[in-house]
Amino acid sequence: MPASLLFADLGLIAEIASKQAAQIDELWWFLCIVSLVMTVIIFVGVPFFAVKYRKKAGVKATQIEGSNFLEIGWSVIPFIVMLVMFWWGADLFYAAVTPPKDAMEVFVTGKQWMWKVQYPNGYREIDELHVPIGQPVKLTMASEDVIHSFSIPAFRVRHDVVPGYYDTLWFTPSKAGKYHIFCTEFCGNQHARMIGWVTVMERNEYESWSGGGGGGGSLAEQGEKLFTQNGCSTCHLLDQQGRCPVLRGLYNKPVQLAGGQTVLADDAYLRESILEPNAKIVAGFEPNIMPNFKGQLSEENVIQLIAYIKSLSSSGPASQQGSQQPPIVIAPKAKATVAPAAKQME
Ligand code: CUA
Repeated sequence: MPASLLFADLGLIAEIASKQAAQIDELWWFLCIVSLVMTVIIFVGVPFFAVKYRKKAGVKATQIEGSNFLEIGWSVIPFIVMLVMFWWGADLFYAAVTPPKDAMEVFVTGKQWMWKVQYPNGYREIDELHVPIGQPVKLTMASEDVIHSFSIPAFRVRHDVVPGYYDTLWFTPSKAGKYHIFCTEFCGNQHARMIGWVTVMERNEYESWSGGGGGGGSLAEQGEKLFTQNGCSTCHLLDQQGRCPVLRGLYNKPVQLAGGQTVLADDAYLRESILEPNAKIVAGFEPNIMPNFKGQLSEENVIQLIAYIKSLSSSGPASQQGSQQPPIVIAPKAKATVAPAAKQME
């Protein structure tokens, strides 16, 4: 819409840099125009009629008995306009909460006062996010302390990041450039500094950016290391029943619980089962066998472990699918090795 481009040029509204940004702006402009039209009708109409039909000496008021045409008109027309708003808004909302299947997944952990980013290939950055143009990107977000809110105005996306949950948002970047990331939830005295940059790169640029070597292996390989280090592998055997459930093929499958209910083994379930194993006991298993990992593992560690469990459902453990992994990302400014980088970030 030319008007929004004009406003963007003047710096009055954020740039439009994602597919949904343009669509959301169209709805926003529709709402503005409807409001403006209604405001003008009311604010011009009230003084106009007040003056036109004011009490005059010697003139007797004519009594009007109402008009069906008018009554139905001013009920039905606003009703239709409201329905358009509802339908349009609901349509955009459902699109906004439904990431496409082919979306590239990136993990974001909010912490006072930084955004920590993890890519599937194991590369990590702080307060920086790199994405290729035209590629749907899904962010899975966790918080290590308080409620934060992840916002990229140029993409018209924002979502609260609540401790104890995974929150997601997704976008398709449509314009190369560098755009602001903000925290939009007051989260402590350095809240205003919890900002970063998302860089949208051309496809080939992104390929070469992510084409170097990073060390530390993919996210799933990092998870596999943690899985061994924390002794998970002694009870969760890969191909036979141990003291704890087999994890191969578990991801996104229904799980029968001891109470009789069935839950889906999604990211949230896996996270809960790692941090508080007794919250949901799988049918046929005893409680209190697995230790609580709450406080032992960071949100980033949990993300690595989930990536590993996920990899067990695709084609074997992470260490055996090295050739299928996307190239390890190397950032222009710093190379990350897993364990030491994790320490520096604490
Ligand atoms: Cu995090 Cu404000």
